[in-house]
Amino acid sequence: MKGLTEEQKKKVEDLLSQMTLEEKIGQMNQESPSIVGGFDVPFEELIEMMTDGRISKEEFGQIMSNATQDFHEEDIKKGLVGSLMVQDPVKVNELQKIAVEESRLGIPLIFGLDVIHGFRSVYPIAIAEAGTFDTDLMERTARMAAKESRAAGVAWHFAPMLDVARDARWGRVSEGPGEDPCLGSQFARAKIRGLQNDHSATENYVAACLKHYVGYGACESGRDYNTVSMAMHVFYNNYLKPFQAAVDEGAQTVMAAFNDLNGVPCTVNRFLLRDILKDSMGFPGFVVSDANAIRECVVHGIAEDHMDAGVQAVNAGMDMDMGTEIYVKNLKTAVENGTVSMDVIDEAVRRILSVKMWLGLFDHPYVTEEAMKRYETLPKEHTDLAREAAEKSIVLLKNEDGLLPLKKDTKIALVGALADNREEIIGAWAMSWQEKDCVTILEGMKSTFENVKYFPCGGPEGDIDMNDILKAEDYGDVIVAVMGELVSMSGEASSRSNITLPGRQKELIEMLMHTGKPVILVLMNGRPLALEWENNYVPVIVEAWHLGIQMGNAVARVLSGDVNPEGRLSSSFPAVTGQCPVYYNHPNTGRPASRSKFTSRYLDAPFDSLYPFGYGLSYTTYTYSDLTVKEEGDALDISVKVTNAGDRDGRETVQFYMQDVAASLVRPVKELKGFEKVSLAAGETKEIRFSLKKADMGFYDNERNYHLEDGLFRIYAGGSSRDCLMQEIRLSF
Ligand code: BGC
Repeated sequence: MKGLTEEQKKKVEDLLSQMTLEEKIGQMNQESPSIVGGFDVPFEELIEMMTDGRISKEEFGQIMSNATQDFHEEDIKKGLVGSLMVQDPVKVNELQKIAVEESRLGIPLIFGLDVIHGFRSVYPIAIAEAGTFDTDLMERTARMAAKESRAAGVAWHFAPMLDVARDARWGRVSEGPGEDPCLGSQFARAKIRGLQNDHSATENYVAACLKHYVGYGACESGRDYNTVSMAMHVFYNNYLKPFQAAVDEGAQTVMAAFNDLNGVPCTVNRFLLRDILKDSMGFPGFVVSDANAIRECVVHGIAEDHMDAGVQAVNAGMDMDMGTEIYVKNLKTAVENGTVSMDVIDEAVRRILSVKMWLGLFDHPYVTEEAMKRYETLPKEHTDLAREAAEKSIVLLKNEDGLLPLKKDTKIALVGALADNREEIIGAWAMSWQEKDCVTILEGMKSTFENVKYFPCGGPEGDIDMNDILKAEDYGDVIVAVMGELVSMSGEASSRSNITLPGRQKELIEMLMHTGKPVILVLMNGRPLALEWENNYVPVIVEAWHLGIQMGNAVARVLSGDVNPEGRLSSSFPAVTGQCPVYYNHPNTGRPASRSKFTSRYLDAPFDSLYPFGYGLSYTTYTYSDLTVKEEGDALDISVKVTNAGDRDGRETVQFYMQDVAASLVRPVKELKGFEKVSLAAGETKEIRFSLKKADMGFYDNERNYHLEDGLFRIYAGGSSRDCLMQEIRLSF
């Protein structure tokens, strides 16, 4: 990754030496457009009023049509704003012009946005894309998103989201790479490379922002924003790992999480921000708070007032304030009265200016007219990539009697309101997608199959239309039922206490099953669902997540067999919600779950997840043999033979796990150490080798000391975390 040249570093120092204290603090202030006028209550309350039904959506819309946006032009001119959240390129240029031409020092603004899974072209949500285990793909989608957003002036993505997440009740599992720190770390590295590394032109890269640092994915009971308490060895060995990987890969910025970790909100957590991130990891970039998080420190009960919150945050190492103006309103006084030192301010500003310099914003602050128009119509290369990513993310969970794939002339009754909806394929946090680019499942099915008739019947909300069900019964050889969650049911502030199919969808599936026709259930959702009933009764289940603009084509091509499914689960699916959090890499207890009573189990739920991490079927079958493990210098040379035992070509995800059988701290029953995607023609066998560095076989204790302990290890290779071959080896380090 390219760093700053000596000349650029000098320019940063020169600027710093010319800045007034106000201008310095201004760089540490991020604004978003404020909505003003047309209403008497604060905008936040207005939103709440609409959410809790005090006003209708229509009334809200009417109020908004009389409101205007304040883009803080006057403050930009005074040098009091360092960053803004804006996505319209014309507005970007207008505001940038004020910063560059009308502010005293002409320091450009950095425009940031939540570009989580695509900008103009929308790709699968992260939990789905991680399940491709295809790091090259992950990198390519990030690179495309960077180009598209930079063409609109957005040079900073609030992504990747790297929260290890083990509790599917948490709505934000959709935004991250799932439950495993090794997969999460590979995802992290791929995303950083894709977003940041193409410096062939300023227009090709952006600054990434790792979030949410850190531990947010472990919010108690899966309830968003909730408190997080965990042993530090669990933290270091799991939750911190993807962040470490992304920092090693050169990530430019980090966003602190909302939650407290062991009692101290991340926003003011000096141990996390300074000791671990900046000092120990050597992170050179800047840290931004999450939205309004500095203000919320008062509500957390860690700060008495805004001044106190701002002082604690900046001293802890928080360089930029997102959205509260607490820094601009308080830090000058704090410096004057000595509670914040000038060094602390200078350090923050140096970091922010360096990222702006690295982005080339000083030389290329504006968006060109050509760039603005570049993606008005999406190039084929972009839609092709969106389709490839969507196809590779689909996970075949169950395929009884080989019902899938379907012949193209099969008479299909397509059911479910979600099948004909553009917004619902997009997923949480999609940015500037356009309806014209979206292919619904109905459209994809109609263009792939010869005989498709659509009967909405019902969806996640509302009633079941009995007439539609009768009509579907009369038509066709099979029923393809598209069920799942609305986009608004996952993502931020969307935790659910019961993660079965929402609304009356289970009832609807039961009615469809009563028709006697085979039912193929296609799921659209943003989190693992509890599918015990569906798994027991529905013959075919396809996990299609929220796949983005090409969802319809991808689903149809998998159902027809044009594409052999290869996606895997990046998160375990529970059988019932009460099992949450359920994850494959748990430690053993002294009494692992078994049939006997006094073991670690529920009386009324299975021992294990329903579908484990790494799981996913194909239209062919893969068999594993000849696992061998040898010591080769400072690594283990692991090899396994994988055979495509079916009659279709396919792509298998070969997974390598290990277990440290006895150690000074209890270790996971299995932990992923590496994986490889392998194309296998029907009947073909390949030997897959994986070199596991011995240095990577250790673990951190509660003080972050790394241990490599002699003894017995188990090495596993297989097609999922549950289904593996195993070899033991005794090692001394
Ligand atoms: C979310 C962040 C996001 C930020 C800015 C917050 O509410 O937690 O993930 O980047 O808003 O939109």
